[in-house]
Amino acid sequence: MNTTPSSLKICCIGAGYVGGPTMAMIAKQCPDIDVHVVDLNQTRVDQWNSSDLPVYEPGLDEVVQEARGRNLRFSTNVDQAISEADIIFIAVNTPTKYFGIGAGRAANLEFIEKCARKIAECSQGHKIVVEKSTLPVRTAEAVKRILNSAAKGATFDVLSNPEFLAEGTAVQDLLHPDRVLIGGESKEAVERLVQVYARWIPRERILTTNLWSSELSKLTANAFLAQRVSSINAISALCEATGADVDEVARAIGTDSRIGPKFLKASVGFGGSCFQKDILNLVYLCEHFGLREVAQYWEQVVVMNDYQKRRFSERIVRTMFNTVSDKKIAIWGFAFKKDTNDTRESAAIHVCRDLLEERARLVIYDPRVPESQIRSELEMAFADLVGGLSDKHKKLIDANVTVATDAYAAAKDAHAIAVLTEWDEFKTVDATRVFEGMRRPAFVFDGRNILDRENLVKHGFEVHSIGRPSLAHI
Ligand SMILES: NC(=O)c1ccc[n+]([C@@H]2O[C@H](COP(=O)([O-])OP(=O)(O)OC[C@H]3O[C@@H](n4cnc5c(N)ncnc54)[C@H](O)[C@@H]3O)[C@@H](O)[C@H]2O)c1
Repeated sequence: MNTTPSSLKICCIGAGYVGGPTMAMIAKQCPDIDVHVVDLNQTRVDQWNSSDLPVYEPGLDEVVQEARGRNLRFSTNVDQAISEADIIFIAVNTPTKYFGIGAGRAANLEFIEKCARKIAECSQGHKIVVEKSTLPVRTAEAVKRILNSAAKGATFDVLSNPEFLAEGTAVQDLLHPDRVLIGGESKEAVERLVQVYARWIPRERILTTNLWSSELSKLTANAFLAQRVSSINAISALCEATGADVDEVARAIGTDSRIGPKFLKASVGFGGSCFQKDILNLVYLCEHFGLREVAQYWEQVVVMNDYQKRRFSERIVRTMFNTVSDKKIAIWGFAFKKDTNDTRESAAIHVCRDLLEERARLVIYDPRVPESQIRSELEMAFADLVGGLSDKHKKLIDANVTVATDAYAAAKDAHAIAVLTEWDEFKTVDATRVFEGMRRPAFVFDGRNILDRENLVKHGFEVHSIGRPSLAHI
């Protein structure tokens, strides 16, 4: 293994939302380290090599532009990248398994195992293999066993280095992380990785633990974050029933330094590729170890999230005189949160599916999500329900879904607007212009509590927010 930092070579398998941005940041901050990101998906690699990156993140274009062509490469040359590297990150997807044992709960580790086998096949000498993907506890054990079968007698250290970036703020999170976590058995290997991050991250923010603590900490962090969202969302339902205001309750409890103000925003429900998948994975692990009560405790976080999404669409239907059939509803936002083009598990998918089931006509606008992606998510959502997309549902989506190019066009002639992503541009829309184009009564369902309700009501809207009393012009 090369030991001089100036000739260090890093390879990352998986050029997704994690692999792309994290490796671009390492390359930017360490111009002398050669970083090679590889993926089997040629289209994705081509996008990373173009000016239209596959991942939208504020500030990411600049980071990639600075390093690409200097010490950052994207390619499909997996074998070559592995064979040249001193440190190999595995950042492939670990989706929830949808078949066989553990279906609907366990992580599908097929892609991780394939990577480990590929590394074993292509390696010579000594390499450090780093788990960047989020994995169940003790996955490193299986990875080590596979690596130990290396054909060319290579030796390995396996580290766990879970990623804590949040989509939408990935660049800032990577520049100034709360902490970097590295778990491993070999002090030398851990120190080698510490030295990479220590180029721009203060040493006290680089935590080192044993392998299993590191693997479990990532699942636990996501479970705690999602739990806070489900907790405040549970209270939002009680607020709507009692006349309390969830934003006021959140402010009141968030000022308690033991609770803190972050992640207390009530909403239509959490989304994204990680929270649900990681909690279900945790639930599966607990069940595997016979911890039934612990499993049930965490599963409730997902149950509450499903309830919150369903509650929102039911409220729309109920408020609009118990029918949305043939009514036009503008959907503002389809990404799972603002400042990302990622729609995986977005609450918008579930709400749109429910409204389409009620035969509403949807006009969807999102500043970063292309029409093809919106249609494909909706098709998958209906396919999930019946185990394959039926002709009936395909026709329903084709006939009842339109994609608009801006928020005003989406709201034109609409009976209602549903805000499903908290994009900043929705906060500053011209309320007069929107109102004039809509049918009466002009309903607004703010699934993110971002709009200025009083202002909207002054313009004539009837506004329904999460966990707050409804407001209408008198
Ligand atoms: N997205 C997030 O915000 C986030 C944050 C922290 C951790 N994570 C974790 O990081 C991991 C990756 O997540 P992501 O969002 O980047 O996934 P992703 O689906 O965006 O990217 C994964 C990439 O890996 C590639 N891939 C799969 N198998 C491969 C193989 N054998 N060889 C080469 N490439 C292969 C896929 O083609 C894909 O491009 C997951 O375990 C996830 O839980 C994600």
